[in-house]
Amino acid sequence: MDKQNTYILGIESSCDDTAAAVLCNGKILSNVVATQKIHEQYGGVVPELASRAHQQNIVPVVDQAIKKAGIHKEQLSAIAFTRGPGLMGSLLVGTSFAKSLSLALAIPLIEVNHMQAHILAHFIEEEGYEVPQFPFLGLTISGGHTQIVKVTDHFEMDVIGETIDDAVGEAFDKSAKILGLPYPGGPLIDKYAQKGNPLAFPFTKPRVDGLNFSFSGFKTAVLYFIQKKLAENPDFIKENLEDICASIQYTIINILIDKLKKATKGTGIKTIAMGGGVSANSGIRKALKEGEKTFGWVTHIPKFEFTTDNAAMIAIVGYLKYQKNDFTNQHIVAKPRFAI
Ligand code: KG4
Ligand code: ZN
Repeated sequence: MDKQNTYILGIESSCDDTAAAVLCNGKILSNVVATQKIHEQYGGVVPELASRAHQQNIVPVVDQAIKKAGIHKEQLSAIAFTRGPGLMGSLLVGTSFAKSLSLALAIPLIEVNHMQAHILAHFIEEEGYEVPQFPFLGLTISGGHTQIVKVTDHFEMDVIGETIDDAVGEAFDKSAKILGLPYPGGPLIDKYAQKGNPLAFPFTKPRVDGLNFSFSGFKTAVLYFIQKKLAENPDFIKENLEDICASIQYTIINILIDKLKKATKGTGIKTIAMGGGVSANSGIRKALKEGEKTFGWVTHIPKFEFTTDNAAMIAIVGYLKYQKNDFTNQHIVAKPRFAI
């Protein structure tokens, strides 16, 4: 065994991506993701199909991650896996696989909370990427999550705001579906929005107390608006797609920025670290950068491959826990509902 280096294998299987990554002393050696295409035709993730696809993917994905890292599995120091939150059938695959491999290799097993991992992804060592300074606010926005988290240390986190219904990615995807765009429609809304007028069709923002979010009302507002317009003009979507997308995106971003403004004011913390698939959105990236000038924010957005569901973020949590000897054992079970 290589005593100088710490090699962590990370395994992620909480939703519809089967992923494995190897880190050496916090630096990335490999980061493999098999995204399940099967769900596209259903317009959303089908849990039973996700679980089956994980079973097919897990061995080749882990094998590839170890090969790409240029190491032998016997060199691994520990295995970190996503325990939750997520879909039970999906989590079970990664959890069982991680337990078996740790037993076979006689190396420690480390449990990881997926939501903590989205935030700690900022600590993957990358040249040119400056890690956020504590304390900071983590903004995690994806197809499954919408959270503002106050982070005072690697493992001291408080959720200070979250969605009470749909996630922000769902607001994008469901709006896209109403417009007849394929799943997942978020990136397409972003693409069309770039050529449209964000003020063309004003949508009202939902009123939610404190730092929480609600997106289900927004989706309904989009639906009624489109139905009404289509009744007047059957070509309404075709003729106005760019303006509709720009208006939807503008409203969603305003909702996020309003809450961030409130959160920075309330906590006095001006450092914001964003993660999750929706952080790829060009509008939210621009709005955060503008916040640097307007409100004195310091913002961090990691590489795209570390923002969507991935195993490098699981491995970095594994590395941080490895240094604290924070290990689990063979009795561990998956936890679909798992608070930070
Ligand atoms: O993190 P992720 O890959 O998976 C989870 O949901 O955990 O996030 C996927 C979500 C989808 O809702 C997708 O539409 C959205 O991120 N997304 C975007 C963009 N790229 C991905 N939404 C808006 N603009 C984008 N450019
Ligand atoms: Zn996620």
